[in-house]
Amino acid sequence: MGPSSIFSPISTPAYRINDVAILVLVISLGIFMVVAGLLAFAVVRFRRLRADDDSEPPQVYGSDPIEFAWTVAPFLIVFVLALATTRTIYEVQAVTKPPGALDVSVIGHQWWWEFRYPDLGVVTANELHVPVSDPADPTPTFLRLESADVVHSFWVPQLAGKTDVIPNRVNEMWIDPQAAGLYLGQCAEFCGTQHARMLLRVYVHPRAEFDAWIATQKAAAVQENSVAAGRRVFETTACVNCHSVDGTIATGRFGPDLTHLMSRDTIAAGAARNTVENLRLWVDQPDAIKPGALMPAMKLEHEDLDQLVAYLASLR
Ligand code: CUA
Repeated sequence: MGPSSIFSPISTPAYRINDVAILVLVISLGIFMVVAGLLAFAVVRFRRLRADDDSEPPQVYGSDPIEFAWTVAPFLIVFVLALATTRTIYEVQAVTKPPGALDVSVIGHQWWWEFRYPDLGVVTANELHVPVSDPADPTPTFLRLESADVVHSFWVPQLAGKTDVIPNRVNEMWIDPQAAGLYLGQCAEFCGTQHARMLLRVYVHPRAEFDAWIATQKAAAVQENSVAAGRRVFETTACVNCHSVDGTIATGRFGPDLTHLMSRDTIAAGAARNTVENLRLWVDQPDAIKPGALMPAMKLEHEDLDQLVAYLASLR
């Protein structure tokens, strides 16, 4: 199944949710078969015949055994579903953090995700990188979810259930992906015009690959003399009010940190591939990629735009 199916879990919370989802589906299927079967039987068995005399059939009211049966049976079914669900929620939430766990702060913004690794000094956006977690030696990732503006919801179906991201509140969840790969998700709570393009990409790496990724993210920003003109454009426009690049005057927190921009596969929260052409379009007319995005059109002269994009493309 696809990279965002709830039916191909690879992380413990998602396994638990998959189990309870299968249980609910099987019970629902049973109910559907009984109801649809009785309906089909009644339609065929009691259809109008040519020989009908149009008199009313015998009317039956107040049968205690029938009333009792159709009250108790649904009650028991709901009771079983409620217990199974409660148990699953408890099992997922009651886990204590093992020593090998990674901490990541997730901050939902209109309409992108900020990821901060407080113990590693790494900041990135929209593409979360985590190590694979071997069940024999678990290295799960614990997420602290906060919002910079409105309610969002963090959802990567193969890894865990949805957790709301609420202003002035910290929610927590954890994942322990057991296979390397790319897992897709999205914001799952309507949060404004670009809610649909608030996508999530989670890259799960073998340990050595994850450590190498962390090393590239901790490296100082690339400073190439060939793009000094573009850097000057960057530092003298409104870019610096919203974005950060290590080693420059840009320390904004409103938009994504751009220090290692080109290490990402996508821009605009997964709305476009991270190519020089798309970067240029994004800076020039963000609405062409995400109508209503809070990134303003920079209205730069042609030459300044070229230089700025060349600078951005140097931020590996
Ligand atoms: Cu953020 Cu929907």
